[in-house]
Amino acid sequence: MARMNFRNRTVVLCVGGGIAAYKACEVARLVVKGGGTVRVAMTPAATRFVGPLTFQAISGAPVLVDLLDPATDLAYGHLGLARSADLAIVAPATADLIARIRAGMGDDGVTTTLLAMTCPVLVAPAMNTRMWANAAVQENVAALRARGMHVVGPEAGELADGDVGEGRLADPAQIALAAARLLGRQDLSGRRVVVTAGPTREPIDPVRFISNPSTGKMGYAVAARAARRGADVTLVSGPTALADPAGARVVRVETAEEMARAVDAAAAAGMDLFVGAAAVSDYRPREVAPQKRKKTPGEETLVLARTPDILAGLGARLAGRPDAPVLVGFAAETEEVIANAREKLKAKRCDLVVANKVGAPGAGFASDTNRVALVSSDELAEIEGTKEQVAEAILDWILPVLETRRPRDG
Ligand code: PMT
Repeated sequence: MARMNFRNRTVVLCVGGGIAAYKACEVARLVVKGGGTVRVAMTPAATRFVGPLTFQAISGAPVLVDLLDPATDLAYGHLGLARSADLAIVAPATADLIARIRAGMGDDGVTTTLLAMTCPVLVAPAMNTRMWANAAVQENVAALRARGMHVVGPEAGELADGDVGEGRLADPAQIALAAARLLGRQDLSGRRVVVTAGPTREPIDPVRFISNPSTGKMGYAVAARAARRGADVTLVSGPTALADPAGARVVRVETAEEMARAVDAAAAAGMDLFVGAAAVSDYRPREVAPQKRKKTPGEETLVLARTPDILAGLGARLAGRPDAPVLVGFAAETEEVIANAREKLKAKRCDLVVANKVGAPGAGFASDTNRVALVSSDELAEIEGTKEQVAEAILDWILPVLETRRPRDG
C-alpha cells in the first residue's frame, strides 16, 4: 500500500477499551510514518488493554487518560487536543463508547475531547458480532453518521472470542487510508504558490475603465485547491465579487501595474509555483483624465500604452535557472487555440499554458465549468469539468515538474 501523507496534519486518536486497542498502535504508527502528528486520548478501560506508555512512545507526547489528574500537564488537555486536531479517529469504538458519544457524555478524556471537536471524526467500530447486530448499536452508529461522523468498518471475519461475523476492527492500514482521504491530499505542503486571478481595471477617468469579463472563478479555484493540498498560497486578485478562498492570503489590486507589483512582492518572499489565471489588460490609457471626459468633438481617440506583462517578466527573469519556479500561464483564445498557446509557451518562457477557448459554451469567462488544453513543450492534454476539477488537473500536472525542479527535503 502506498505511503499515506499526513504531513502538517494532527490526528487525535481516541482509543476505546476493547481487545482491538493494540491495533490502534499501528494506526498511530502509520500517521507518524506519513509525517503527521498524533495525540492520543484513552478511556480508562482502554488502558487495561494497552498501556498509555506505548502510545506515548509512538506519538512522542503524553497521553490523556485522567481528566482530573492535577499532576498531569494536560490540564484542560481535552480542549488542547480538540483545538489541535485536523481529524479525530476513534479506534476501537466499542459499543459502550459509541453509545456515550451518541449521548453527548463527557465523563472521560475521550468523550470530553470528542465533545469539543469541530474537525471531522472517523469512527472505527469493533465488538462482538452479536453486539454489532444489536438494534441499539445500529441506531447509535446511524445517529453518529447522521451527525456527519464517518465510519470505517467493521470487517467480517473470525473474532477474538471465536465467533465469526461482522465486528472486527477495520485493518489499521484501511483506517489510516480513510483518515488520509478525509484530510485530503497534502502533496503541495510547504510549497509557496502565487496565483493571479480576475480582471484588471485600467482607468480612463474617474468613472470609466478598460476591463474584461473575467470573474476570477478559474484563478480562485486554483488558489483554493492548492491551499487545500497544503500549499502556502498568495492570491493576487483583480476586482471580483468572490469571497477569499479558504487558506489563501489574498492581495486585492485594480490595475495591471498594481498586480505586477503585488506579484513581485510575493515572489520576493519565495515562490515555487506561479499560476497566471488573471485576464490582465494588455493596454491602459496613456493618460488618466483627472475629471470625467466630456463628449467633446475631436476627442474620441484614446491613446493607449502597454501594461507590464507579468508572466513574460517572470519568464525572462527566472526561466532556465535550474531551480526556477514552475511558471504556468493561461491563454484565452477565440481561434487557433493550440497554436496560439504554443506561441505563448515560447514567448513567455513558461512550463505550461492552459489554453481555453473563450466563447465556447461551458468554458472560459464566468462559467462554472471550463474546457482547456494543457499545452507544454512535449505534451498536450484536454481537460473538461468544473473549474475546481480543472484546477486539480492543472496541479496534478505541475506536481511532478515541481518535485523534479525543487525536490523537497526528506
Ligand atoms: O475568471 P473567469 O471568469 O473564471 O475566467 C477564466 C479566464 C478565461 C479569465 C482564465 O481561464 C484565463 O484564460 N485567463 C487568462 C486570460 C488572458 O489574459 O490570457 P492572455 O492570452 O491575454 O494572457 C496569457 C497569459 O499571460 C495569462 O497567464 C495572463 O495572466 C498573462 N498576462 C497577460 C498580460 C499581461 N499584461 N500580464 C500577464 O501576466
